[in-house]
Amino acid sequence: MRQHVNPLSKNFNEIEIIPSLNQIFGDSKLNLHLDIGCAAGDFLFDLALSNTSWNYIGIEIREKLVKTAKLKVREREIKNLYFVFGNANNILNDVQSKFIIKNLKSISFNFPDPWFKKRHYKRRVIQPEFINILSNSLQKGSLIFIKTDVKDLFDYMDDTISNNFNFKKIDKKNFNYSKSFNPNKVKTNRERYVIVNKLEIFEKIYIKI
Ligand SMILES: C[S@@+](CC[C@H](N)C(=O)[O-])C[C@H]1O[C@@H](n2cnc3c(N)ncnc32)[C@H](O)[C@@H]1O
Repeated sequence: MRQHVNPLSKNFNEIEIIPSLNQIFGDSKLNLHLDIGCAAGDFLFDLALSNTSWNYIGIEIREKLVKTAKLKVREREIKNLYFVFGNANNILNDVQSKFIIKNLKSISFNFPDPWFKKRHYKRRVIQPEFINILSNSLQKGSLIFIKTDVKDLFDYMDDTISNNFNFKKIDKKNFNYSKSFNPNKVKTNRERYVIVNKLEIFEKIYIKI
């Protein structure tokens, strides 16, 4: 079992600045998706290689995983994928990241670390202040996707996002995945594990209104 990284550690106070979109992508005008807590980025590699009409950014707090993923992007000359190392909260809270948030069509939080103990809830990546930052800078119509196998975490994330009046839930039944960042419903590594082990998945989509 891996040791969870404490995102509140001061090691993450200094952040990696994300360069401008035309410095990191072959075509900066494509639709842009951000995956938060992307681990080694396998999900994003699958997406970027199969949907070349989207750009993808992944943020991950484990530095070694990001270094390896960045190297793989360079070696394979993938022009629609970029990885950033650090605590997503600190990175997106930085004024310099506003331009990224403004350009996002969607954000995914796939199976975030649950931090089960109440005194550790503040380490969870979704926080009211963080959702406020997103709601202040995301364009109308942008989407947030959350997915987890931990019911308590799901309720917490759902409450936190729903308490912000700028986000409305979308009924999954009416959602057209073919136009989304994940038209083929590619699965993350954790999702595959959860499916094999027949655990329940709780998910929701929100739209900025
Ligand atoms: C349980 S894993 C899920 C990985 C992947 N999304 C999946 O579904 O397979 C959660 C990931 O989020 C990362 N993480 C946790 N807190 C984070 C934060 N504040 N900022 C960026 N990444 C974070 C962890 O290091 C870990 O790789």
